[in-house]
Amino acid sequence: MSAAGQKRTAAIAALDYVQDGMIVGLGSGSTSEVFVRELGKRVADGLSIIGIPTSESTAEVARESGITLSEVDKVDRIHVTVDGADEVDGRFRLIKGGGGCHLREKIIANASDLMVVIIDESKLVATLGQFPLPVEVDPFAFTVTAKKVFDALQSAGIQRPEVQLRRAGDSGKPFITDGGNYILDCACRAIPDPNAAAEALNRIPGMVEHGLFIGLARVVIVGEDSGARIME
Ligand code: 5RP
Repeated sequence: MSAAGQKRTAAIAALDYVQDGMIVGLGSGSTSEVFVRELGKRVADGLSIIGIPTSESTAEVARESGITLSEVDKVDRIHVTVDGADEVDGRFRLIKGGGGCHLREKIIANASDLMVVIIDESKLVATLGQFPLPVEVDPFAFTVTAKKVFDALQSAGIQRPEVQLRRAGDSGKPFITDGGNYILDCACRAIPDPNAAAEALNRIPGMVEHGLFIGLARVVIVGEDSGARIME
């Protein structure tokens, strides 16, 4: 089965975590998009939920799918958030932000009673860091912030990380997040101590949010050729 097929398997299995009357955080990326479209089919069949999107693109897909949306500031709680990831390790630590949405994704996941992560099996890794770590930064003085990001990653045991400004396609212009910020993609090869890396990054002024999600995911659903493997 292709990665797309496995993503679909995981996304459909995550529907079991959604019940009538829930407020549901809607993640971003291709796996989340499958989940949102499948959730829309359940809504068409009578399921009543309110969605909280984590990006403008997800909001658009949710609207197309007939899902009623609200804003995180207007609800008392979020029962469950379902989102994809770029990498997941054995302790449910994640790298997210391949799509540049990790700031809102982290805010919504942290505000939720439960975060369910949906991935194809290629995303499950022994050590995080093959996927470049996205770090969202304020455009002001971003070259200074980039040097501090380099130092922080080195201090967390990552040898010579390569920190690069993300560009928008072939335009050469910086990629701009929904929050109006830049993204630094940090090629680390391996992150031996994700907790130390997260703590070091958190200390940098101008660093808006990094893509390390630690202590947030409680359920990981891995789409495999034989079906969905649920890890809790
Ligand atoms: C976006 C994300 C996505 O969840 C992550 O990049 C995975 O995307 P996909 O499901 O397309 O593989 O964090 O910011």
